[in-house]
Parts: sequence; structure tokens; C-alpha cells
Amino acid sequence: MTSTYHRTCRLDTDIPQRVVLVIGTSLKANLNRSAPPSSKFFSVKCTPNVQYRITPPPQDISHLSPIPLNGNSVLFISMGHASQNENDSKLSVRYYGENKEALGRAVLHLTAVEISLDVDADRDGIVEKNNPNKGSWKWGPDGHGAIVLVNCDSERTYLKKPDSEQDNISRVSDLKDMSLMVLRTRGPARLPEGYKLTMHISQGDAESVRVFRSGSPEVLNNTLRNLYNIFVKGYPLVLSSEVLSQEVPYLGGTAEMNFYVEGLRFPDKDFDGLISINLSLLEPICAGLPETPIFTDKVVFRVAPWIMTPNTLQPVEVFVCSTSDNYQFLKGMKNLVAKSGYKLKICHEYVNRGDRWMQDELEFGYIDSPHQRFPVVLDSPRDGELQDFPYEELLGPDFGYVTRVAHRKDVSSLDSFGNLEVSPPVIVDGKKFPLGRIIIGVAFPTATKGRNMTKVVQDFLWAQKVQEPIALFSDWLLVGHVDEFMTFVPAPDRKGFRLLLASPDAGYKLFRGLQNNGHGQAKLFDGLKDEEPLTVDEILNNKSLQAENNYVQSCIDWNRDVLKRELGLDDDDIIDLPILFKLVRGEQKEQDEEDEDEDEEEEEQEYRAVAYYPDMVNMIVLGKNLGIPKPFGPKVNGRCALEAEMCSLMEGLGLSCTFIDDFASYHKLLGEVHCGSNVRREPFEFKWWNLE
Ligand SMILES: *[C@@H]1O[C@H](CO)[C@@H](O)[C@H](O)[C@H]1NC(C)=O
Ligand SMILES: *[C@@H]1O[C@H](CO)[C@@H](O)[C@H](O)[C@H]1NC(C)=O
Ligand SMILES: *[C@@H]1O[C@H](CO)[C@@H](O)[C@H](O)[C@H]1NC(C)=O
Ligand SMILES: *[C@@H]1O[C@H](CO)[C@@H](O)[C@H](O)[C@H]1NC(C)=O
Ligand SMILES: *[C@@H]1O[C@H](CO)[C@@H](O)[C@H](O)[C@H]1NC(C)=O
Ligand SMILES: *[C@@H]1O[C@H](CO)[C@@H](O)[C@H](O)[C@H]1NC(C)=O
Repeated sequence: MTSTYHRTCRLDTDIPQRVVLVIGTSLKANLNRSAPPSSKFFSVKCTPNVQYRITPPPQDISHLSPIPLNGNSVLFISMGHASQNENDSKLSVRYYGENKEALGRAVLHLTAVEISLDVDADRDGIVEKNNPNKGSWKWGPDGHGAIVLVNCDSERTYLKKPDSEQDNISRVSDLKDMSLMVLRTRGPARLPEGYKLTMHISQGDAESVRVFRSGSPEVLNNTLRNLYNIFVKGYPLVLSSEVLSQEVPYLGGTAEMNFYVEGLRFPDKDFDGLISINLSLLEPICAGLPETPIFTDKVVFRVAPWIMTPNTLQPVEVFVCSTSDNYQFLKGMKNLVAKSGYKLKICHEYVNRGDRWMQDELEFGYIDSPHQRFPVVLDSPRDGELQDFPYEELLGPDFGYVTRVAHRKDVSSLDSFGNLEVSPPVIVDGKKFPLGRIIIGVAFPTATKGRNMTKVVQDFLWAQKVQEPIALFSDWLLVGHVDEFMTFVPAPDRKGFRLLLASPDAGYKLFRGLQNNGHGQAKLFDGLKDEEPLTVDEILNNKSLQAENNYVQSCIDWNRDVLKRELGLDDDDIIDLPILFKLVRGEQKEQDEEDEDEDEEEEEQEYRAVAYYPDMVNMIVLGKNLGIPKPFGPKVNGRCALEAEMCSLMEGLGLSCTFIDDFASYHKLLGEVHCGSNVRREPFEFKWWNLE
């Protein structure tokens, strides 16, 4: 944003004044203040590059004869184009007495420079020249404002750490993760003596971004400059939290200098994502006094938010763990992923150390800008045995990493990212959410105690803004993850998806139907090793099981109402899946974790829900192929009635069901297919900055 204020300048009839004027700004001189005593008239003369205007406007527009001097006569001066040499333009004011006799002359020696700090404010990937909107930021398709990415990937693959934590730019390829900012100047070969350019930033903003510049001699053309930078000089740091203001070279003539702005941290509770960088032209006053800024150009950036990807986006890679006991599961997953045509990445036991919960340790997302985009993994503070996987295995060139660190005592099972999901795009009462809404599970709002997702993660999620979160109630579950009772699948009609909800009512209905049709003796868990089979009759006769499921249904219904309201869904957008739960006592502990407050916890143990048979809603969604926990339900004519029901519900949407046996290796450990897998997906086509 170019300052359009009129800088006041002095006229002096004793000595000529030196003035540097920035193109696009103007000077204002009070004609009366510096006039010799008893001056009654004045006249103005200037060289062709100078324009001036007088207020109040003189009657005689020709300006040829002396103009009567008025108590409030003001002269405004501007210049048409940059000077080639210092003092190459001139303006003089002559003062006259009553009889038009000359009383004195004030002379200005003028030098004009063009200065513009430029960014990609129109978001087309190119740094345009002096965009009038570069000093502010506005959302929407007709919005404006530049974007900077957190440089959270690692160009280095050994001894790696996020580039934003490296002191130097180690590879030229790193520059494309930064936002180009160009200082364009035009003027004489050198600035008049004592004048200088400085770039500056506030202390607060310097915590969030820093600025490098191209360090090569500017006489080189770009091709040579890049080579030179790689091998010789590097990219000096201009602004950082240690250096808030620094002089930058003025190159002379018509010149462009490249700067690279690097994001250091994501929006969060204490950071709204906006930062500004100023460039000033400083004028010397006299030796020993600080220079004063006579021109400031300001640019604004917004740090790109971290964005999650819903089930309706195209998968890229599927991640699972290999453990000593999950051969059966792995085989099922390999077949499903191969059939669907995606990449399968297996995390081996020496990395996962027996921790199979790939969903829980991390969440895949991405960051996006007009010039660059890459995936970014959000590492959960859960920190199970898989804790090193996101950093050690995923962070790399164009694969970013972000985490939030919480106190161990604040971390609960609700911090696992099976408890962090995102809806497909929705419109709620006319309000568009083209990137969907984040969904997390927390304690019931009225609960005085209970487990919650830790504050640092919640704050981070809310601060990203573009997928405004919804908090569901998931603490009623022993494990406490939203993926235990809900998921989204793509659909060819309506809103483009269906919400699938676990439903004990739907389960009881199915079992009663079996009983009514004479299949009361059909057995659940039939043929499973180490599992007592149960007949349909036994399940239906168990009054306490029914009571427990009524409670579970009411918990899910509470969430159903929240989801309908917050996602703008109708009942027809929701499909109930026949799933029963049971209540067990206690709070889930991470397998290998010793809790110091064990005794205290003991007293607080409450009844919480777990799935009675493999929880079919806890599935992996790969395009039209669903990988569903094999429920081992009662068989009718040799076919599992639960699988049959599931298939008939999904087939109408053009989805194909593959049932994966996760019984021993996941279900018995209180997780299922979704908990044991993760999917990296293509980003949205919709650009987050186009949000209204
Ligand atoms: C420009 O004008 C100022 C004021 O008259 C003078 O001090 C300075 O030396 C001049 N510079 C050049 C290069 O002529
Ligand atoms: C990093 O940059 C600083 C200052 O720009 C320099 O002193 C230092 O030698 C550089 N380190 C490496 C490893 O290039
Ligand atoms: C940048 O300039 C704007 C106005 O041009 C000013 O309000 C702001 O304080 C300046 N910031 C810094 C860090 O100099
Ligand atoms: C830059 O200069 C080199 C050496 O003079 C020349 O070969 C090359 O074509 C130039 N590149 C451009 C883009 O002008
Ligand atoms: C849990 O987090 C939610 C959502 O931020 C908040 O409304 C609620 O007060 C928290 N509950 C507890 C018990 O801390
Ligand atoms: C009824 O189901 C519950 C599981 O919630 C179980 O603990 C109980 O043993 C069952 N009762 C009978 C009679 O099978």
C-alpha cells in the first residue's frame, strides 16, 4: 500500500533544498510560511518532470503573471517518472512585493525514485507490479492478499528437520516453498547521500515469518545468479526475530531484487495468520540523529492453514502397520488396496514397535498457496510406540510436519486421531463449507469431569478457520473416538455423500427380523477361535444388553442431532448401520503406559461403551471400495446377515463392500479397520483463500 499522504517540505529562500520524492506520492509546501516579509505575490517554475498544483487555485489559470499570495496558499508537488540523475529536476518559487518587485527565490533540487515492494496479491502465482491491494488481505474469489506457507517440509533427507528450523537455505529447491517478494526500484545510480532503504517487521510477526534475499551480485542475469547462489553466496537472512529491521541494497537504475518470505508457524490461538512487512525510504536529518522514514510501502501475507481431507477425496496412499499377529488383516488390506489401484505403505514392526493404530498417531492434511502445495502430517500428542513414524518416515522434501506438544497428564485417549475427522463439503443454512468441517469428540458439555481432546490440539484446529470444527460427544465410549460411531461415504446423489452412523436400534431390528423368520438359533461369532458363539435368541433375551444399547443409542442420537444441525443434513442423508455395543467398566489405558495416578483413576472408573461385534462403521473408504470390519454375524443360508444388510445398504450408492477379518488383531484390542489404517488423499480443488 503506497502511502498517499502529502509529506510536508520546507521552502527556503536562503539555500536550495534537496528533496527526494517517491513516484506516486506528493510534497506539500506552505507558501506563506517561508515567504520573505511583505511578500504579496509569488510565481512557480519547474522542469518538465515536475507537476505542481496550488490551493486555493489562482484566478489566472495561465500562472504566467505572479499570483497573489494568500494566507493559506499551499503548493503540492509530484513527479512524473523516476530521475536518471540526482537533482535532475528543479522547482523554484519566486516571491514579489506590492509592486511585483522580486524579494527572494526558494529552490528545490528534486530527485524522483520509484519504489515498490511487490507480492502476489492477486493470487495467480506471479508477483505483479505494485498491486493497489497488496497492503491488505481479503477472503473470497474477488478477494486479494498474498499467501505464505509454513516451510514445514525438509529438503534434507538425512539429519532432517523442518526447513523452518534450519538456519540457512541449504538447497535452491527450498525457495519454491517460500513466497517471492520483489523490491522493484527505478532511479539514479545511487540514492542521494544519507538516504537508505530498510525493510522492517514487528516483533510479533517475526515469530511467524522470516525473510531471506538473493545474495548474488545483481549484474548477473537470473540464470547465472541461480548458479552463483548455489555454489557461492547463498541467501542472507534479512528479517528474523533477532533482526527486525535491516537496510537493503538500492541497486540503481531499473532493478529488481528478490526476497523470499518463509512461514515459521501455523495460525493458532495467539496468531490469526496475518503478517505484514514494511519497506521504508529513510531520509537523513543530520549526523547523529536517526533518519526519518519519508515513504513506507507495506505488504500483507496470510499464513496458509492446515487442511484435512475427507473420505470423499481421491486416495493417494494407504498406510497400515505390520505386526507379529496381523497377517490376516494385512492380507485383506493388501487385496483391497490393490483392487482399488492405490499405493499401500506398510510400516514395519521395527518402526511401529507393536503399535498398530496407524489412524491414531497422525492425521494427513496439506497446505496450499498459488505457488506451491504439499501434504503435511499433523502428529498427535498421543505418542504411542508409533510416535517417531510421522517425523522419521513422512517428513521429507515436499512433505511437511506439524505437531502440538501437550503435557503428558493432559493427554487422553481422545487425543488419538481416530477422534479427528472431517466432513465432505456442506452448506448449512446458506453458509458454505466447501472444505467441509472438522469433527472431534469431547466430553459431554454438561459433564463436570471427563476426557477431552487436549487444548493445544483443539486450539490449533479452531485457528485454521477454513474447516470450522464441530465438537461431538465421544467420552461415552471406552476408547472415545468419533470413528467408532460415524463415517462418511461418497454418494452419487443428494449432497454427494452419506453419513453412516452406528445404530443399536438398527441392530436390534435386524436381529428381531431374523428371530421372526425362524433364525433365532443362528449364531454370532460362529467358528471364531476363542470366542463363545451366541444365538440371536440369546442376544434378544439379554435385558441388560438391551438397556445398555438403549443408552448407547441415546448417545449416538445426541450426536446425530448435532451433526444434522451443524452439517445441514436431513434424515435421508444418514444411514443407520446395525451395530450393537456393550458397556464395560474402566477407562482405556494405552497398553504399555504406567499411569502414576492409577489409584485415583480407579475410583473414577465408569461404564463406557465398546462394540459388541466388529464395528462395521469403522471402515476404510477408498473411492467406491469400502474395507469393512468383518462382523461375524449370524448366518442365514450360509450368508452373514450383517454383511448382507451392509451390502444392500451400500450397493444402492454404487459402493462395493469388502469385509476384512480384524477380529483377533484389532477388534479384540478395541479398534477396527479404520483405527488400524490411514489414507493420504488428493487435496481439494477448491482453493481455501476463495472462501467467502
Ligand atoms: C543535489 O542538491 C543538493 C542541494 O542543493 C546538494 O547539496 C547536492 O550536493 C546535490 N547533489 C548533486 C549530486 O549534485
Ligand atoms: C548460515 O548462515 C550464517 C549467516 O548467514 C552463516 O554465518 C553460516 O556460516 C551459515 N551456515 C551454513 C551451514 O551455511
Ligand atoms: C508498517 O507500516 C504501517 C503503516 O504504513 C505501520 O502502521 C506499521 O506500524 C509498520 N510496521 C512496522 C513493523 O514498521
Ligand atoms: C545469462 O548470461 C549467460 C552468460 O552470459 C548467457 O549464456 C545466458 O544466455 C544468459 N541468460 C539469460 C536468460 O539471459
Ligand atoms: C472439552 O472441549 C470442548 C470443546 O472445546 C469444550 O467446550 C468443553 O468445555 C471441554 N470440556 C471439558 C470437560 O474440559
Ligand atoms: C448380557 O450382556 C452383557 C454384556 O453387556 C453380559 O455381560 C451378560 O453376561 C449377558 N447376560 C447374559 C445372561 O448372557
